[in-house]
Amino acid sequence: MLHDPNRVYVFDTTLRDGEQVPGCQLTTPEKIEIAHELEALGVDIIEAGFPISSPGDFQSVVEISKAVKIPTICALTRANKGDIDAAVEALQYAKHPRIHTGIGSSDMHIKNKFNSTREEILERAVEAVKYAKKSVEDIEFYAEDAGRADIHYLAQMIEAVIAAGATVVNIPDTNGYCLPDQYGDKIKFLKENVKNIDKAIISVHCHNDLGLATANSIAGLQNGARQIEGTINGIGERAGNTSIEEVVMVLKTHQVLGLHTHINTKNFYELSRMVSTQMRMPVQPNKAIVGSNAFAHSSGIHQDGFLKNRENYEIIRPEDVGFPNASIVLTARSGRHALKFHLERLGYNLGKEELGETYHRFLTLADNKLDINDDDLLLLMTGDNMYIQSLLKR
Ligand code: KIV
Ligand code: ZN
Repeated sequence: MLHDPNRVYVFDTTLRDGEQVPGCQLTTPEKIEIAHELEALGVDIIEAGFPISSPGDFQSVVEISKAVKIPTICALTRANKGDIDAAVEALQYAKHPRIHTGIGSSDMHIKNKFNSTREEILERAVEAVKYAKKSVEDIEFYAEDAGRADIHYLAQMIEAVIAAGATVVNIPDTNGYCLPDQYGDKIKFLKENVKNIDKAIISVHCHNDLGLATANSIAGLQNGARQIEGTINGIGERAGNTSIEEVVMVLKTHQVLGLHTHINTKNFYELSRMVSTQMRMPVQPNKAIVGSNAFAHSSGIHQDGFLKNRENYEIIRPEDVGFPNASIVLTARSGRHALKFHLERLGYNLGKEELGETYHRFLTLADNKLDINDDDLLLLMTGDNMYIQSLLKR
């Protein structure tokens, strides 16, 4: 089968990078449940854990490998034999195993983390890939802190690990440092200057310290990367990882980019809620794509425009991401059009004058109550003003 050059592979690390967040630890059965949902979502790779890190993580990789059939199952290691041996063992039941090994690539990490030299680190990187390749065919190499690495050294490292057998090369912006054009240029440089780059897929792995993870991932894809790494809800250490749902919906919305994934986007909302509940990590209401307000229209101007034609204020259809539906929220900033819409839904068809009078009473109510629900509207229509008066007395 011919490789589709516009296909973007989706690598989910909710269960590894996401699960590193304090308080978000999951049990093995919880991880299996999420892994099944990731499979249904259509991700291509599930990073199931870091087997050497704890017996629990090791067991989770074993059990996810047994439970999941279609996606590749990936295990993280550092660039040493002990980590790689543990990953190989944990992946023994995986239908499609991948080892994700790597080492720091910035001078900051080389000096201050490894107390080493560029030459020594390069050697360790190559040795790790060669060693892992003896047991597993699919090897992904990560050049940690690539966002701050010297580009010529990074290119040298990437060329060497591909020659050693890496099938995917991950260029992490570990600290969420880069600007989108800087990150995009990095990927472009590697694409144009690494001799054997056509033998591997370039992967983007961006952190969100400056709120740029999605923008940086897209810049990487625009410049030749074809795998994106991220988590559901953007969960992850510090400010988190790239949100998979955001990147996928950017590609779907901007078809001009010519890139596509195999993700079933209708599964996003439910999976987002599952991850949030199991990891005890609420989703902020204004979170793009999956936040509770992502499809809620509340100001009068927007509501009026939305009710005339939803595309005036809706670039993504909520049903495309499995969101229950768009909502017209009633607040003191709502207009007559929104009130009319909700009253008609409840069976009240008011003439212009009656609507004007009801709207006046509605505003009094809305100024005194944060959100107006159907019960409030019914009382507004039947309550003889008693309800409003009682609120005003508070
Ligand atoms: O952010 C990072 O650099 C990582 C690597 C371990 C892939 O998570
Ligand atoms: Zn990371």
